[in-house]
Amino acid sequence: MSSATGCSNQTQIAKLTVEGKEFELPVVVGTENERAIDITQLRKNAGYITLDDGYMNTGSTTSAITYLDGEEGTLRYRGYAIEDIAEHCDFVETSYLLIYGKLPTANELNDFRESIRRHTMIHEDMRSFYNGFPRDAHPMAILSSVVGALSTFYQDSLDPHDARQVQISIHRLLAKLPTIAAYSYKKSIGQPFNYPKNDLSYCENFLRLMFAVPTEEYDPDPDFVNALNLLLIVHADHEQNCSTSTVRMVGSSNANLFASISAGICALWGPLHGGANEACVNMLKQIADDGCNVQKYVDMAKDKKSNFRLMGFGHRVYKSYDPRATIIKKACDKLLGRLHLTDPLFDVAKKLEEVALKDPYFVERKLYPNVDFYSGVIYRAMGLPVQMFTVLFAIGRLPGWIAHWVEMHQSAATKIGRPRQVYTGANLRPLIPMKDRT
Ligand code: SDX
Repeated sequence: MSSATGCSNQTQIAKLTVEGKEFELPVVVGTENERAIDITQLRKNAGYITLDDGYMNTGSTTSAITYLDGEEGTLRYRGYAIEDIAEHCDFVETSYLLIYGKLPTANELNDFRESIRRHTMIHEDMRSFYNGFPRDAHPMAILSSVVGALSTFYQDSLDPHDARQVQISIHRLLAKLPTIAAYSYKKSIGQPFNYPKNDLSYCENFLRLMFAVPTEEYDPDPDFVNALNLLLIVHADHEQNCSTSTVRMVGSSNANLFASISAGICALWGPLHGGANEACVNMLKQIADDGCNVQKYVDMAKDKKSNFRLMGFGHRVYKSYDPRATIIKKACDKLLGRLHLTDPLFDVAKKLEEVALKDPYFVERKLYPNVDFYSGVIYRAMGLPVQMFTVLFAIGRLPGWIAHWVEMHQSAATKIGRPRQVYTGANLRPLIPMKDRT
């Protein structure tokens, strides 16, 4: 039994009574009044650990990067509302904000852009990696492999405690990830790789790397450039999600930034996490091919025996509408309207949302569309293949992963991540000789 006592202008404490003894535990109050019971001394003082599968109730750290309120559907990067950032900033500016903690001045942003532009090429020897992958290799597998291999080419910038080395690694990663991603796409369709161009913006360069062919000029469509900027911004960070926690965990061992980001890419790939955008579009296609029988799939999602979930629906933290889904859905409408395009999957998605949000099963569990529900509609309109959707999520999330990795190394409280467990296996028993084993 525990209770939080004390008023806000004093150090608050929680009291835990166990086996007749009372223990006082400090309460940590965040800048948005989130409260946490600090258990760092619990095992030493009370001989107990806590247990929390999936960390549903456990904070792994304090952080000043992103604030979200799952009940209110609020998301802020360094205190700025996601809606304002999406409206007024571009992705490189947002990356600067997340990583360095402030909105850049015009000069700071220009220097940042220029530095990133000058690191967009990858070592020519890295291009030969792609010859070794099968043509149907999933681009997320290629992305994590090639990003991890960056540490073999840049052995001069691996020390996580050398500020200069960390800075050059940050710029190299931000610059090269789109190139590495685009090359995985070109490999899959047997087209030649393009070189980046320094007179293009971040998103223009990526679209050109992806879609330009040597036989003709390529001018990135401004509507696609704007839509891509928006998508990358809303994916840029989301506090201690699965892949960011992975980056922090790997980085806590003093592994270099490239290795930590490579691990984050692997975690993001899972269909319960970033892989949901690919799984969602495949689900929408299945529903569209099945006569748009939306109710059938809503009923399947409610039937535990079906093992079917509405991909792009539900969230560990958001128990209201994911503010990113709102922004993306609006961008879908705008892009398809401007391009005079219709996408049956967008219609299916809107119908599915309408039916699900009236169904008590979803209402009671507070399951709403999340960031992955509508993003695939925009990616499709841009001509991206489904397998590249999670790769786009990774490009967007990169500045967030970097920001958390840097914040972790800058924190005096950081230790190597090493959770405890409650052992539930066999008690001590004698070894059975081979002749007696069955
Ligand atoms: C991302 O953490 C982040 O911030 C992640 C992310 C980010 O920006 O980094 O926001 C990105 O990963 C978004 C989520 C993408 N994943 C999906 O869209 C996959 C489908 N959604 C789920 O599998 C699920 O909602 C999770 C994984 C997202 C969250 O799962 P939780 O918090 O562990 O919730 P749960 O599995 O315990 O579900 C609670 C209940 C269960 O039913 P009951 O046991 O109470 O009867 O809700 C049900 C679940 O069966 N449920 C769903 C459902 N999601 C949850 N039922 C049908 N369809 C769904 N999508």
